[in-house]
Amino acid sequence: MYTNRWSFFVAWPVATLLLCVLGPIRVYDGAGLPITLQSIAVVLVPLLWGSRVGLASVVSYLLLGGLGLPVFALGTSGFDRFAGATGGFLLAFPLAAGMVGLAAESLLPVRTDTSYRMSRLLLTTTLLAAAGQTLTAALGILWFDSISGPSSGGFGSWMHLLPGLALKSIAAGLVVLICDRLYPPKAVAGLFVLVAASPTVLLAQTSSLSNPSSIMEIKRVTDHHSFARPNEAVVTHLSWNAQVHFDTRTIEANATWTVEAAEGAESVRFDVRDLTIASVRVDGKPVTFILGPAAPFIGQPLEVPVTAGTHQVEIEYVTSPQAAAFLWVEGTSPFLFTQSQAILARTWIPCQDSPGVRFTYDARVSVPQSLLALMSAENPTKRAENGVYTFRMDSPIPSYLLALAVGDVEFKAIGPRTGVYAERGVLEKAASEFRDVERLVEAAESLYGPYAWGRYDVLMLPAAFPFGGMENPRLTFCTPTILAGDRSLVSLVAHELAHSWSGNLVTNATWDDFWLNEGFTVYFEYRIMEAVYGSDFSEMLVALSRQGLADEVHSMLSDRPADTHLKLHLKDRDPDDGMNAIAYDKGYFLLRRIEEVVGREAFDGFLRTYFATNAFSSMDTERFIGYLNAQLLTTEASRAAVDAASWIYAPGLPANCPEVVSERIVAVDQAVAAFAAGKLSASALPWEGWGFQERYRFLSNLPASTSLEAVQALDQAWHITSTGNYEVLFAWLKCAIEHRYTPAYTRLDAFLVEVGRRKFIVPLYEAMLQSNQTELALAIYERARPGYHSVATGTLDALLGL
Ligand code: BES
Ligand code: ZN
Repeated sequence: MYTNRWSFFVAWPVATLLLCVLGPIRVYDGAGLPITLQSIAVVLVPLLWGSRVGLASVVSYLLLGGLGLPVFALGTSGFDRFAGATGGFLLAFPLAAGMVGLAAESLLPVRTDTSYRMSRLLLTTTLLAAAGQTLTAALGILWFDSISGPSSGGFGSWMHLLPGLALKSIAAGLVVLICDRLYPPKAVAGLFVLVAASPTVLLAQTSSLSNPSSIMEIKRVTDHHSFARPNEAVVTHLSWNAQVHFDTRTIEANATWTVEAAEGAESVRFDVRDLTIASVRVDGKPVTFILGPAAPFIGQPLEVPVTAGTHQVEIEYVTSPQAAAFLWVEGTSPFLFTQSQAILARTWIPCQDSPGVRFTYDARVSVPQSLLALMSAENPTKRAENGVYTFRMDSPIPSYLLALAVGDVEFKAIGPRTGVYAERGVLEKAASEFRDVERLVEAAESLYGPYAWGRYDVLMLPAAFPFGGMENPRLTFCTPTILAGDRSLVSLVAHELAHSWSGNLVTNATWDDFWLNEGFTVYFEYRIMEAVYGSDFSEMLVALSRQGLADEVHSMLSDRPADTHLKLHLKDRDPDDGMNAIAYDKGYFLLRRIEEVVGREAFDGFLRTYFATNAFSSMDTERFIGYLNAQLLTTEASRAAVDAASWIYAPGLPANCPEVVSERIVAVDQAVAAFAAGKLSASALPWEGWGFQERYRFLSNLPASTSLEAVQALDQAWHITSTGNYEVLFAWLKCAIEHRYTPAYTRLDAFLVEVGRRKFIVPLYEAMLQSNQTELALAIYERARPGYHSVATGTLDALLGL
């Protein structure tokens, strides 16, 4: 009957592989290869070692570790590092446990009387398996910590796996027993699959990186910007089938949503805006739906009747040519991109457009044959002859991270799991500008834990993109205005990359909690920059942000003081109103203050655990503060030193806001003073030796009293009007407007027509208005407006009174 023993080694890998392929278990995603390798090792080694099971099990386990390590380190496109490692553990624990059980059994005297065997085996295998399992779990955690830096959040953050492991070991013990009792081996294998599978699922569900067991159990806070009622019926998956028409500027599509409805649910509600709904089917049958009245910026509710048993809702619809998420670029290089954050996803897909609702998706998109389509998902790198592309996003995301781009773009790899997409003319430049991106990902991982999304690519958009960057998962959308030629503006990529943790893993529950996305991301961004380029560089960024924050607070305090609280009140307002330095920089400085109080090491440990335990879920300000106080600020003194409440619920800047001293910025400020006092000539400035932060600081701090001659002298000495650094150019053009330095106006005009990045263009138009050059502003705007995205025209129309 000893042949039965080997069935264990066959059945376990089969069960695990089946689970990998079939199971909806997110932690296994991408782990197919390592698991296969490990399984082969586990089958082969004991066979080679013949009946010396005890010794064989030790060797197999060592081999598991040995194989897992390079697989983890390789961590490239084919399989996800973290999933690989996790998958390895999940597999390794029970295997090792089973082996300990087997080894123990082989040491026992072989007796034939059944009752003796039954009781001894049950006891010893179960106990030993449990012990073996716990031991391997502990070793595994230590191993994981040691290879990825202490990035797993420390031992404590994995403790929640132990109940699952204990159950699993009992199952493993039972299986060993059953294997020994039953015949033929085939039946044993089948049984094993069943027994092994159930605790595996259980284990995966207790894991922090997987979904909660029932999506309906998530209690969500009210989101004033969505009509959805996710506690009644919530979406879990989207299948999107779409045709993109450049000629009519529309997308014809089918959105098939998998829905979970609570007991007693009567309808599921979606958000839509400017969509023409052709039909709705529920589980294949046409139904009558209700479209509520449309309200400004939030659109209208689409209500579809369902019952608790409803599985799928299929919506057939067409988008409007004015859909606010889109920018259509026509001409020689047609381009379409979407911008869904904050609440524009509903203008191109009917969805539960609330950051607290997450879903996975797949898509099939048909585009003009010469163009490539990309999404916030697993992406193609090559043109498809028929113009049809398919996509998958297997990790649950909120709707604001839905993204689509269609253009004549090509792909170039940067590192093993990083790359860039761009039009041919900018591809090389972009790839060279971004050559450090793989290093940024590594630095980010060693700070706050494994990158959870597989690949990290960047897509260069047309200059009309209204933002610097957008953190669409797996594919950051990016403005070409950061291609300075010297990597100086790569911090923007660090920022969007950082969102892969803060925002995309742990998501602000509503737009009132926006600082949880952006403040954390700015903090993380600067830490990445510090790790890769040194603190000299990053502290200059901090110093600029400190000044930007002081200016913003100053300008907001008089007429809208409540908007300077970190916790916002955007009910009945466009969430876009919250996009200012408060969420970003005040958020950053609160976190920096916490770091100052508890020390960097403690804060880093806290953040790692925070991301690991809250991954793929949403967070609101109140829950964060509760978590912070429970986990980190455990003493009254530390809570008082941080004083989170005055940061979050009070206006302005708290007295404990950290000051930053950057020697290099101090030197610039001295140069500004000397230049303004006429003690330093333009040509004597150390311009060449300055980085963009120093040049930016100099230009933006020139006093209003600076003479036109002095401005002209600067340009003559340093040719600033023709600089290729858009941050410097922006500060310069603003200065040129304020001093009516007209030789720069041709560049100003070209800049405003070419670039649609709101952070640059709004202050430039504002400067024209404030210096009585309204006609100039209106004349340029008239020509530039057709090229801008709705996000920019929305702000500018209001500013220019149109
Ligand atoms: N997610 C934001 C952009 C955003 C915020 C779009 C709110 C719509 C609504 C993105 O990560 C961002 O912050 N971009 C900045 C980058 C900068 C802070 C480095 C930008 O576009 O300027
Ligand atoms: Zn951001």
